[in-house]
Amino acid sequence: MSIISAPRGTRDILPSESWKWEYIINTASQTMKDFGFSEIHLPIFEHTELFSRGVGETTDIVEKEMYTFEDRGGRSITLRPEATAGVMRAAIENNLCAQGSFAKLWNWGPMFRHERPQKGRYRQFYQIDAECLGISNAMADVEVIELSVEIFRRLGLKNLEVVINSVGCEKCRPIYREKLLQHFNAHKDELCETCLTRLERNPLRILDCKKESCGHVADEAPDIFDSLCEECKSHFDEVKKGLERLGFTYTLNKRLVRGLDYYTKTAYEILSGDLGAQNAVAGGGRYDNLASAIGGNKIPGVGFACGVDRIMLVMEEQGCTFGNEPETFAYVAALDNDSRGAVQILTHELRKNNIASECDISGKSFKAQMKNAGKYKFACIIGAEEIAKNSVSIKNLTDSSQVSVPFDEAVKYLHEQAARF
Ligand code: HAM
Repeated sequence: MSIISAPRGTRDILPSESWKWEYIINTASQTMKDFGFSEIHLPIFEHTELFSRGVGETTDIVEKEMYTFEDRGGRSITLRPEATAGVMRAAIENNLCAQGSFAKLWNWGPMFRHERPQKGRYRQFYQIDAECLGISNAMADVEVIELSVEIFRRLGLKNLEVVINSVGCEKCRPIYREKLLQHFNAHKDELCETCLTRLERNPLRILDCKKESCGHVADEAPDIFDSLCEECKSHFDEVKKGLERLGFTYTLNKRLVRGLDYYTKTAYEILSGDLGAQNAVAGGGRYDNLASAIGGNKIPGVGFACGVDRIMLVMEEQGCTFGNEPETFAYVAALDNDSRGAVQILTHELRKNNIASECDISGKSFKAQMKNAGKYKFACIIGAEEIAKNSVSIKNLTDSSQVSVPFDEAVKYLHEQAARF
């Protein structure tokens, strides 16, 4: 029988890597707390309609990347391709922004998109996501960008670029869309096949096509900044001013439109110079019409998500540190078979007292156990002599010194020793 492998585009995060992931999540979690964001846990699957109406029928995500299936009750269910629509649904359903109040929420977990796998692009990937709901002021956009930059600063990421744009609103975007249509229609023969279909359904998306010939046409396209209404213009000015006040540098990119339809006004990405083609470590923006698109009252929102897989890649590439690799402090070894019971009891006591410890549970000889003990700070040795004296021999494995400690005082002794490290 053939071996069953993990599905294409998924990976196992093995213990050699998982502690680094924990460091990234803990750092993000602490930063979220420092910015007043509370954690929310959401379902991993939702009704398909949430994404088709929320993210948008004409997006690549909804058109061709969703993991959609019928459940046993005949309902169309989708594994979430992103978190924003789910956060908004939860806010509406649980009345989190009642009477003009606001909610700052964050979450992290797996997302699913049926994309072509490559470096930094997976079918199951992990996002850290933050959403600020209920505030239309540009200060919220600035705070969200500041939060994402701060997470990366704490993680030690270098060589990042913040790219921002405004994609307008329901008032000014249709006018811009018309101008774009005119321009692209005049250059139809230079567009790739995908962009020809986008021309009909979503011409803004042509602006961020990566193909060279489309890129040339997009560069020549009318500038969105010339089409923004007064409200969008002044909102964008406020965002830029806010970023400058905090000393952030950013690049303006009129071709940044993002792959999700819910954006209004601010759109932004944080790019890494160390990622190759999939160079966005974070993306986000404002989405003031998402709530109404999924059937709720108007709740403005702004947020971002960053890809944990990509953060990992950049951190490894840049030689960033991940804090200390977790280690077990003490190894408890049995000199003979009769001492194995006492070893188990001592290990139990140490663990109950928060001393990370390990003992042999596979029946290895004393010599083999001690060979194993090499990677710990202390070895607690118990044999017939120790049992007779109700004691433990504790060996410091760093300097090989050894002491005899009463059995009941082993916890206290090791706590004192741990405080020195
Ligand atoms: P997004 O740009 O689709 O935005 O994804 C955000 C980030 O998730 C990307 O910048 C990237 O780091 C990571 N990512 C996306 N797709 C993959 C993949 N296939 N493999 C690995 N990493 C990936 C959103 O999802 C929006 N919900 C962000 C947002 C939140 N906007 C407002 N609030």
